Amino acid sequence: MLEISGLETGYGKKQVLFDLSMEVKEGEILALIGPNGAAKSTILKAVCGLIPPWNGEIQFNGTIINGITPAENVARGITFAPQGSRVFNDLTVMENLEIGGFQLPRKEAKKRITEVLEFFPILKERKRQDAGRLSGGEQQMLALARALVPKPKLLMLDEPSLGLSPNLVNTVFKKVSDLNKELGVSILIVEQKVRDVLEICNRAYGLKLGKVVFEGLPTELIKDKNRIKEIFI
Ligand SMILES: Nc1ncnc2c1ncn2[C@@H]1O[C@H](COP(=O)(O)OP(=O)(O)OP(=O)(O)O)[C@@H](O)[C@H]1O
Ligand SMILES: [Mg+2]
Repeated sequence: MLEISGLETGYGKKQVLFDLSMEVKEGEILALIGPNGAAKSTILKAVCGLIPPWNGEIQFNGTIINGITPAENVARGITFAPQGSRVFNDLTVMENLEIGGFQLPRKEAKKRITEVLEFFPILKERKRQDAGRLSGGEQQMLALARALVPKPKLLMLDEPSLGLSPNLVNTVFKKVSDLNKELGVSILIVEQKVRDVLEICNRAYGLKLGKVVFEGLPTELIKDKNRIKEIFI
């Protein structure tokens, strides 16, 4: 579905991603793990068109999407919930979801929001409430829900567990797993909560200083604790 080959990019003159090749297969949850500064977020930003690739190719369902705008990417079926930025606090749950659907015709957006809310009963109950008054976990659910409004084929999540307490991390990961199974959306998830994300993903890549150092099944990593240490040290 998403095929990246030889991707290199960076900021200003500084290269941070080196000859990266990876793939997300239709229907899977792919986890990208690695320490701070490994360039995990950079990969997602390059895919969704926030920063330009210097070299290499990004293909989505057979079409090269190098350098296309984030809006075009959404129209093609790729959405992105970026690291750290959750929701607009002063807007209601409903208004936050409307922002997720701003590229859709009004009627279509309304229909999609209704469908998405069926999947998030907590948000449905609070749709008129300001997002800033939701708990951290609920805000993360809202960020997920907002990214689902355009009906993506590929949903990219950058550290959805950031700042959440351990039980909320479980709740959010369970939801990610459910929406993959029940809605059939493919997911590319960046995470530092390695053990938790390995529980829900189908495959994983380990990234260190802008290079892939592991590719394989989560079961291989769970068994091989030294491997995880190697990636993170
Ligand atoms: N806007 C930017 N301007 C300049 N350098 C940047 C910028 N964003 C990231 N970098 C640098 O690029 C490298 C990779 O950063 P990136 O954010 O992709 O890492 P990450 O793996 O997502 O880390 P984290 O786990 O901390 O989120 C780092 O060395 C970082 O300092
Ligand atoms: Mg990051």
